[in-house]
Order: sequence, then C-alpha cells, then structure tokens
Amino acid sequence: MPEKRAKTSKKKAAVKPKVSSASKRAAGTKAKKAPEKAIEFPKGFIWGTSVCSHQAEGHNTHSDWWTWEKLGKIDDGSVSGPAADMLNRYPEDFKLMEKLGYNAFRLSVEWARIEPRQGEYSEEALLHYENVLKEMRKRKLKVCLTLYHWVLPQWVSALGGWTNPKSVEWFGGFSRKVVERLYDYVDIWVTLNEPTAPAFAGYLAGVFPPEKKDLFLTARVFRNLLKAHVVSHDAIRDAASARGLERPPVGIAMAIAYFEPKDPSNPFDKKLHEFFRFAHNEAFLDAIHNGRVPVPFGVNDEIPGLKGSHTFVGVNYYTRFRIDLTNVLKGLPKNLEDMLYLPEGSELTEMGYEVYPPGFYNVLSEMSKYGVPMYITENGVSDGTDVQRPGHILRHLKQVHRAIGDGMDIRGYFHWSYVDNFEWKHGYSKRFGLVALEPGTLNRLPRKSAYLYGEIAKSGKISGSMVKKYAPEYESEIFD
Ligand code: FCB
Repeated sequence: MPEKRAKTSKKKAAVKPKVSSASKRAAGTKAKKAPEKAIEFPKGFIWGTSVCSHQAEGHNTHSDWWTWEKLGKIDDGSVSGPAADMLNRYPEDFKLMEKLGYNAFRLSVEWARIEPRQGEYSEEALLHYENVLKEMRKRKLKVCLTLYHWVLPQWVSALGGWTNPKSVEWFGGFSRKVVERLYDYVDIWVTLNEPTAPAFAGYLAGVFPPEKKDLFLTARVFRNLLKAHVVSHDAIRDAASARGLERPPVGIAMAIAYFEPKDPSNPFDKKLHEFFRFAHNEAFLDAIHNGRVPVPFGVNDEIPGLKGSHTFVGVNYYTRFRIDLTNVLKGLPKNLEDMLYLPEGSELTEMGYEVYPPGFYNVLSEMSKYGVPMYITENGVSDGTDVQRPGHILRHLKQVHRAIGDGMDIRGYFHWSYVDNFEWKHGYSKRFGLVALEPGTLNRLPRKSAYLYGEIAKSGKISGSMVKKYAPEYESEIFD
C-alpha cells in the first residue's frame, strides 16, 4: 500500500499532563479557555479555483467540441453555448473571487479562438486573454494558465488532430504565440490538462471526439501529446531565458486516481490494478521523468527534450478506482467507470464517483516519486445541492494537510470548479461550482461552500468553528 511508502509522523505517546499546585489553586477561580482546534497550512500556500475556458467562457465556435456537441453527442442534449459567459463576465468573477478570499485562479487559453484558421492568429482573442490576465493581477489572483485542455481548433481536427505528426509543430507555433504575448502575466504554466483523457476517451473508448476505438491511434496520440508537451515547455523555457530568468513553474495536470485491488490477497487482481495504475496515472509522467515512451505506447524510445521537462506535477484527484474483473468481462464496457467495484453502501457523488479522501493522501504519496513539487490542479465534487461539498472540501484538504505534514512538497490547491459549467459529455447536468448560476440570467450565486473555502483561504487554516459551522459530522475525521 502506498500509504506505507511515505514517512509517517510518529504520534507522541499520550502523557497525562501534570497539574501544578498553582494551577490547582487557579482552578475553580477562572478556567482557561482551551485553544481552538485548527489545522494550519504553510504560509504562502496557494488557494485557487479552476476552470477550463471551453467549459466556462462560452461560444468557442471554431472548436472541434463545438461541432461535436451540435451532433447531439451530449448526454443531456445540451451544447456548451454561452456556458457560464466568463467571456464577458470575467471582471465580475475576479472581483467575486477577491471578495471571497481566493488568491489564485487556473484557466485555459482556447487554441480555437486564438488560431481559428491555420496560421491566422486573432488579435482580438490574444487581447482578450491579455485583458483577462491583467484583470486577475488587479484582483491579486495568481495566474495558473493551461495551454491545452482537450479542445482543438476545427482545422486541426479536420487534419487528423493529434494523430497527425504535424500537430506537434502546430501546437508549438500556437504555444509560442501565447507565451510571447502572455508570459509576463503568468505564475504557473500547465502545458496539457489530463492528456490521457483525449488519448483514451477519444481514441480507445471512443466516447470523446473523434470517437475512435483504435489501439494504434491511441499510442500515436499519446506520443504526439508527449511531443506537444515538449514544444510548449520549450517555448516557456526560452521566454524565461530571453528575460534572463530561471524556468518558471511548468508541468502537466494529470488525472490521478487511487487504484486499489478489490481483493488485495488475489495476485491477479493486484496485477490488473498495477497495469491500470500505470496506464492511467504513471505512463505519461514516467515518460517525462525519464525521457522515454513506455511500452505499450512506444518501445522505450527516447523523445529529445522530454526528460525532466517539468518542474512540478499537477494532481487532479477525484476518486478511488477498484476494478471488478467480472464487470470487465461483461462485454467490453465503454469506460473505466463501468468496470468498477462499488459495493452497497459506497459513498458516491452525482458523477457516480466514489468519495474516498484517504486516496488523496495515497496518490500524493505515489506522485512524490518524481521528486518535484506538486500542485493540486483539480479536486472537487458535482453537487447541485451543496449538501455534500462542504464536507468533501474539508475531508480532502485534511488529506493534503496530512501529506504536507509528512514532508510532501505541495505548493497549492485549485478547487474544481469556481463556477458551474459545461461538464463535457454530461453537459449541464453536473454541477461542480462553488458558485451556482441563476438559470436564465447566469447571475453568480455563491453556494455556502464558496464561503467556507474563502474562510479557509483567508486564514490559511481549517478551524474547529469552521467545521462546526459547515460540516459538524466530520469533526472527528478532520481533527483526529
Ligand atoms: C477533470 C477535467 C475537468 C472537469 C473535471 C470534473 O477530469 O480536467 O475539465 O471536467 O474533471
């Protein structure tokens, strides 16, 4: 179990406090108030929220998803449309974030907006993002910028998307343009968000565009995404050195689930989980770590410039995956989600994900092996009622705190998401926002979790009174 790999802080043996005669005399006069329970995060810890611009800005009309959504591919029949209208309302959003006490925000730039036709860069779009980032600065929000969050310009997908070897060069050109224009406003760069999702969901399971089911293409996309990471990393590194600066924080945001065998005493089950853990969590990061494309995505061949091309690992943590072989054998399920073992009584979210906070600690411990700092680039829950979310936030942050306490280098946390948005295949039926949208007007309605997260961000701690106020049922879990 990975939990054992990390150093665990030794609990001091409980010692019965001595009671001095002076305090005996004082007792009965005035009882000293016990200090409030609290768990404190390090100074300078980043407290942000996250979105992807396609999901929140709206009207990304030159993108492959925009076309695909219109083909009726989204489960609830919706299309992204105006999304949360962040395209226009970002000044109001950043003002609200500042008021709530958040100090950072993760967003993406949309390639399809910036380069709607091959080689034609839109000054309007570049200026838009420049204004967005300037506005964030004004509100004292640190900027975490993602260059690719699953969405391609239509012209790229018409030419084969990531299966085309030229896609790497195209992405490189786009990245240089963005970096040239926005470098001075960005604190943390994410080159790719969860690259395994477009590779596996788009080319293996066939549930994302372009809906292919082809192992060979999956491997090719995997490899081209590694190369795409290298070219965008290089653009960032070069911009830094042109300014006489060190490389800024740059990395990938990876979907990291906690994989655990259904039956740990069954060696076959263990192997099965090791394989899934490797393919889902580690293969891409291993490649960046040692510069080689692992089997089955390559033949351990080297990609120039890949080795060490990151300064941090971005962890997107949502759930635990225990795979049930009988579900796998029930005729090829479409998704990993369809293969899961979720016994009666499992605690689930609206997405059907299992809620498993200790898995967060475990994956942070697993990711420590890369020897670079970590940012939590996503963590959150779909919960339109906001009943589950306060406890979810507290319980997951508790695990982050535990990991920091055990010596793991974690620099910040970006909650997914700031606002309800277009949840890909699920459309608008899932609500991840700290802030809800008023139907019809899209006015911002902060949920109570938005205030809880703000109280944590402002004070840098989780206090006993916060837990009492927002999720008293978890008091012992938070302060055990
Ligand atoms: C992550 C994606 C993000 C959002 C959340 C719920 O996998 O990166 O865009 O959909 O899941």
